[in-house]
Amino acid sequence: MKTQIGEDVHIAAAFLKAGELVAIPTETVYGLAGNALSEESVAKIYAAKNRPSFNPLILHIAQIAQLHNYTFVDEISMKLAEHFMPGPLTLLLPKKTTVPDITTAGSKKVAMRIPNQPLTLSLLAQIDFPLAAPSANPSGYISPTNATHVLEGLHGKIPYILDGGNTTVGLESTICEVANNIIILHRAGSVTASELSAVSGLEVINAAAYHAPDISDHSIDSPATPGQLKSHYAPHTPLFMGNIEELIQSHVGKKIAVISFYNRYEGVDNFILAPDHQLSTAASKLFATLRSIDQSDYDVILSEVFPNEGIGIAINDRIGRAQFILKH
Ligand code: TXA
Ligand code: MG
Repeated sequence: MKTQIGEDVHIAAAFLKAGELVAIPTETVYGLAGNALSEESVAKIYAAKNRPSFNPLILHIAQIAQLHNYTFVDEISMKLAEHFMPGPLTLLLPKKTTVPDITTAGSKKVAMRIPNQPLTLSLLAQIDFPLAAPSANPSGYISPTNATHVLEGLHGKIPYILDGGNTTVGLESTICEVANNIIILHRAGSVTASELSAVSGLEVINAAAYHAPDISDHSIDSPATPGQLKSHYAPHTPLFMGNIEELIQSHVGKKIAVISFYNRYEGVDNFILAPDHQLSTAASKLFATLRSIDQSDYDVILSEVFPNEGIGIAINDRIGRAQFILKH
């Protein structure tokens, strides 16, 4: 199959209506989209990404009102939707039977999101089904933030990439769930825990720290978010995160790439993410920088720990997951 890149929403819509897959831009990362209500299209998504069948997909819709077609929405979730959608927030909600089991990998919950990207919003307006769309990378690799990244990983596997340029946020959406009068944060993103708390009036707890109050509470599946398994987003080049001067000492003699917020270090190649000192700039550059380092011949990537505030929390989460793990 030849993979075409273009900006034509009509072509994208035609492929999707025919049951084919199309890579779509969002404000976070590119998604690999197919008709979420078609078991065949969803099966194609798992196959193209080589994604484990236990890892559910996010449904992308255009309007808040469409949440009711696929989910049961509580009051607080609706408040969050009204405040943050369209935008980089995904809500985990109890699903209706309109969503096929394969789309949620058998889970009774479905993740819902309205991407804030003009081309994709106009695409969604031209089709009468929601789009299931995981990040458009082969499973386990870094998420794509432009059409070229998508092509690198899915060339020949999909007919069309809808090109919306570089994504603006650059990290995957925040995923949260309202349960038992608290908010469970399943994935950090540019919508932060404190923003969620301010809008909802509820306490926000990290999924890793959350234990359902009583074993008979079947509203919480385990593992709660299968895709948040430890090793994820990993470049092929080993990556270590921490104090750069100390890390340089333990990698003497190697060809080193250093990822920093805005500092420059001696004797290494520097990849400074945010000369403007803005965490949002660093977030938008992170994945493209990891890819370009990976395509060069570095022995090792060393990364600073970013300020753990705002989107810095999500940056540290993604770099942490990309770290080299010694396999036994
Ligand atoms: O920003 C984003 O969210 C991007 C763009 C394309 O929208 N999508 C994305 O999808 O990052 P993906 O599949 O790469 O990550 C979705 C995460 C996975 O960790 C998955 O396990 C979790 O969401 N997830 C999806 N549906 C779920 C469900 N029903 N229950 C629990 N976790 C779910
Ligand atoms: Mg992904």
